Amino acid sequence: MDTYADTYRRSLSDPEGFWLQAAESIDWVRSPARALDDSRAPFYRWFPDGVLNTCHNALDRHVATGRGEQCALIWDSAMTGAVSHVTYGQLLERVRRFAGALRDLGVAKGDRVVLYLPMIPEAVVAMLACARIGAVHSVVFGGFAAKELAARIDDARPTVIVAASCGLEPGRVVEYKPIVDEAVALSAHRPSRVVVLQRDRVTAPLGERDVDWDTVTARADPADCVPVAATDPLYVLYTSGTTGRPKGVVRDTGGHAVALQWSMANIYDIGPGDVFWTASDVGWVVGHSYIVYAPLLVGATTVLYEGKPVGTPDAGAFWRVIAEHRVKALFTAPTAFRAIKRADPEAAKLREHDVSSLRTLFLAGERLDPETYQWADQVLDIPVIDHWWQTETGWPVCANPRGLDPLPVKPGSPTVPMPGFEVHVLDQSGTPVPRGREGAICLALPMPPGTLPTLWSDAEGGDTERFHEAYLARFPGYYLTGDSGYIDEDGYVFVMGRTDDVINVAGHRLSTGSIEAVLAAHPDVAECAVVGVHDAMKGQVPRGFVVLKSGSGADGDTLRADLVAAVRAQIGPVAAFRDVDVVEALPKTRSGKILRKSMREIADTGQAQVPSTIEDPAVLDALRPTLHQRA
Ligand code: COA
Ligand code: AMP
Repeated sequence: MDTYADTYRRSLSDPEGFWLQAAESIDWVRSPARALDDSRAPFYRWFPDGVLNTCHNALDRHVATGRGEQCALIWDSAMTGAVSHVTYGQLLERVRRFAGALRDLGVAKGDRVVLYLPMIPEAVVAMLACARIGAVHSVVFGGFAAKELAARIDDARPTVIVAASCGLEPGRVVEYKPIVDEAVALSAHRPSRVVVLQRDRVTAPLGERDVDWDTVTARADPADCVPVAATDPLYVLYTSGTTGRPKGVVRDTGGHAVALQWSMANIYDIGPGDVFWTASDVGWVVGHSYIVYAPLLVGATTVLYEGKPVGTPDAGAFWRVIAEHRVKALFTAPTAFRAIKRADPEAAKLREHDVSSLRTLFLAGERLDPETYQWADQVLDIPVIDHWWQTETGWPVCANPRGLDPLPVKPGSPTVPMPGFEVHVLDQSGTPVPRGREGAICLALPMPPGTLPTLWSDAEGGDTERFHEAYLARFPGYYLTGDSGYIDEDGYVFVMGRTDDVINVAGHRLSTGSIEAVLAAHPDVAECAVVGVHDAMKGQVPRGFVVLKSGSGADGDTLRADLVAAVRAQIGPVAAFRDVDVVEALPKTRSGKILRKSMREIADTGQAQVPSTIEDPAVLDALRPTLHQRA
């Protein structure tokens, strides 16, 4: 067995050799002769002369080598009770047809297609169909409201939008079509067509621009794979940045396929025929990489679960899915385990199911608190693997590679850097700090294949300016992760939290800046701040503080309800914004910067390190009781 230490060392000392060898596990139309193109550093490209198609690698090649009868996808809907199995052969046929339908609707190579779909097999079909014809998909998570969808439509400028008639949440049916109609009305860009998949629960009325999924698919000729350059974009996925405007993370085609294929064998220890379940949503990067692309690239069986860890119908839902489908590895966010633990602290439901197929639990998306780690470790009695990554990196930066020689677990640490990721902790001046000391976690350039080459714009090379400004400018030669943390004496990385105003709510990444923008737009609000405070189940939740305009006669309760409703309407229910206080003033530095960090610290712990540059300490003191009251 290869050791982690040797593998990692080789990835840094001989990246060309390492990644060209990894690339051999992918079918290429034209194999790359080179791994890294560094001619435009700090902007890097992987496999510059390679040509391939990701859909071919995810489907056609498995069918061609005799896996057509093997199950590719198990759809398990706890919301409807439906379970269906789709073989590689069947999935390929469905994808070929829908790819043909997209082509008939005028979608060509390089065109964008926005997907607004719940956790149903058609979401996977639509993503792969785009990949098949070289179109660039951009999936928008169903918990975002029309305005957020509109912002993404305006940035991606899709030829076509694909939506379902509804999503299903516990206790309510979320009608998607009115949200899409509102988003299209709000956006400056107009797609030529909206393809609507009618689910049983809701039949959406179709307008002039709309076409029915079944109708367009039935009349389409199947489409073949379109070869694309390894450097062509496979998808754009929007993520929260420090401003209200989401960032379109670009995923290239070749680097992505190579990195994901490597990660499945070496990090997740999953290969052909294994059942892999990622309990997330296709709207997030975790869903893109580990519900859709990676399991299919390696010929595994992926589970697509429409439901929650609790309440659908109870805290035994995950154990049922594992037992019923003989899941070998589960990947989810710690918040899901906190939810299960809260509902069933003794894990009594676990005893009702045979989960002996489960070898490993992988957790990511937010910090894994030691208490949740201990509980999962104790009730499951299998390795519980924390690993750390981001939308931007596309696959784990740090993990415990289960397919190599697994390393001892240290609770609180996502373990060690994966190949090609050179992790450094820097101080404010960009100097590496000694082991054990906290600072900004940065990745030395170039990052390995699969990481973002740029941010989306249809200009050649993407929006390199914004990409540079957001990630590369702060510390030249490094990518700024936005996370803070430290590396211990054994080289284990500890990720402690964000250094910017990104917060993590139930594993969902949100920008406090965009919530502030909604609050600030209210006519009675003079200024506001939103901070992410600790929450026992969701990890963090946003809390708002508003100062009224002088002379405003707004009633506090009415205003609070209005602000909560505005955030839900404009950002979406996923923001989980429920708490807002009207306060006299906000604490600031002498230069006018709101002391959000101090506010957050007081809310979480009752204490804060107050900077010497504070303008008026009395303002912060006056706020203390409000801040700490719910901690
Ligand atoms: N479409 C529409 N609405 C959605 C949605 C979707 N796809 N996903 C979530 N929402 C809504 C929920 O219905 C809820 O609405 P409500 O305010 O009316 O109750 C709101 O957004 C908040 O959702 P969520 O954060 O999921 O909270 P929850 O209380 O419904 O569930 C958990 C909490 C922990 C059970 C849930 O977050 C979970 O399963 N997390 C697993 C981790 C995960 O998937 N992480 C993703 C990245 S790995
Ligand atoms: P996203 O881009 O939505 O995947 O969110 C990425 C962010 O989630 C990271 O920058 C971290 O702040 C946080 N995160 C993800 N995984 C972990 C982890 N294992 N430990 C700590 N934080 C994590």
